[in-house]
Amino acid sequence: MYRTIRTGSPRRSVIVAGITSTAKRLPAPLKTLDAQCDGGLEAARVRPGFSGEAGQLAIGSDSAILIGLGEDHATPQSLRGAGAKLVAALHTMNASAAQIEITKNLAGPLAKKIAVAAQAIAEGIVLANWRQESWRGTAARGDVASGTLVLTSKDSAARGGLRRGCILADGANEARRLGSTPPNIANPAWIAKQARSMAKRHGLSCSVISAAKAKDLGMGGLTAVGMGSSSPPCLIHLKWKPKSVKSSERIAFVGKTVTYDTGGYSLKISNSMKGMKYDMCGGAAVLGAMQAIATLKLPIEVHAVLPAAENMVSERSYRPDDIIEMYNGVTVEVTNTDAEGRLVLADALAWTCKKIKPTQVIDIATLTGGVVVALGEWCSGLWCKDAPLRRSIQDAGDACGEQVWRMPLWKEHRDFMRARHADIWNSGPKRDGHPIQGAAFLSYFVDKDVPWAHVDIAGPATTDSSTDLYVAGPTGCGARLLTETAASFVSG
Ligand code: BES
Ligand code: MN
Ligand code: ZN
Repeated sequence: MYRTIRTGSPRRSVIVAGITSTAKRLPAPLKTLDAQCDGGLEAARVRPGFSGEAGQLAIGSDSAILIGLGEDHATPQSLRGAGAKLVAALHTMNASAAQIEITKNLAGPLAKKIAVAAQAIAEGIVLANWRQESWRGTAARGDVASGTLVLTSKDSAARGGLRRGCILADGANEARRLGSTPPNIANPAWIAKQARSMAKRHGLSCSVISAAKAKDLGMGGLTAVGMGSSSPPCLIHLKWKPKSVKSSERIAFVGKTVTYDTGGYSLKISNSMKGMKYDMCGGAAVLGAMQAIATLKLPIEVHAVLPAAENMVSERSYRPDDIIEMYNGVTVEVTNTDAEGRLVLADALAWTCKKIKPTQVIDIATLTGGVVVALGEWCSGLWCKDAPLRRSIQDAGDACGEQVWRMPLWKEHRDFMRARHADIWNSGPKRDGHPIQGAAFLSYFVDKDVPWAHVDIAGPATTDSSTDLYVAGPTGCGARLLTETAASFVSG
């Protein structure tokens, strides 16, 4: 693994080109490149076993790599996979720079979208290169990441795409770093500190509402959930407002940031608590997106709101049967202290609508185990009644490979959340459709005229086993989705 990957203008680099499985010889543009690397590409093409199948990779010499593009058209997702394989090969070769000219050889719709193709390769490279920060002690084993890889291309559109890909994947990797930090370190105050330091580095503004202030303001949900922990809860607000703005929109992202979820008195049973340090992956995705949006200097106003709390058991914890009043005056009968995410999000959503007055609000959360049962790690659940916003999120998801799948939210679902002793309860008497119950609950806290989307990332936020792109652990899911969604609102 490389310690750093960036774009630049290296003096000498490994030439990387793509070839389809139907090509009988090196196509013309590759011939020119081949001359520059002393026949390395041709040497790669004739390697035994290399046929140009998608996902294959052949090393020609110490200065040439050929990537198989398959028979038909490469897709951004197949190019991400190629990028993942590429970075491993480059590291084995000890390469410090790669000149990526694959885009000259693409067939199909991507041929006209050189920047998109280059971006996908760079995303694959940077995502696959990530490892969980190791907590190396005196008994540490194995290698540490080393060296720098510089990416370049002769083509200026491709260079732009490579840069954009690095920025988007860096955002996702920042989300993964936050997500993988253990809960004895990553408590609400630590997240606030991370947000502040990101704001400083990237020219965002940051303010934090303390636990005492949140209670004063009437944030009954955030207060109740965070009450049992010795690390008090807080509400973090980041703002990106560039000087030049090319959009009339004001987007707000709200990310569930439960730094640890024991379930509270409705305690998680057997080993289902393990992994609940990832219950802040919604907030982490939002922070990763803010980093990417600021680095790209997107000309649009974007807000991030993170309700951060730790759901613990203690004599101060909230309990089932408590009735709490939320920021917008809605009262909630707590039926299950393990349905805590919706409580912290509810206050954050209501506060966002009132104080930020966004033109769109998207909340993102590891909200339910039920959505994992329904959709697996393959995609996130999406609840959004506003057609244009829904389209934007679905398109962004398809483009970046973080797909979303629409789920229903009807009057019947909202009615089901009506409680006996308060306006609503945080979890119904039956577990039926509980991811929908979560969305229905949240709908009580969003102003009616504000287009709103709820994204439940509990499935794809983490992966149990390593894949091409992602080592086992957090995936940063949502960071690229939100960045691409924001980018799609920039006109011109
Ligand atoms: N953080 C969990 C959801 C979760 C579960 C995320 C597994 C990732 C993997 C959430 O706070 C929770 O506990 N949800 C409950 C909801 C129920 C009490 C209505 C659940 O999924 O069982
Ligand atoms: Mn829970
Ligand atoms: Zn939770």
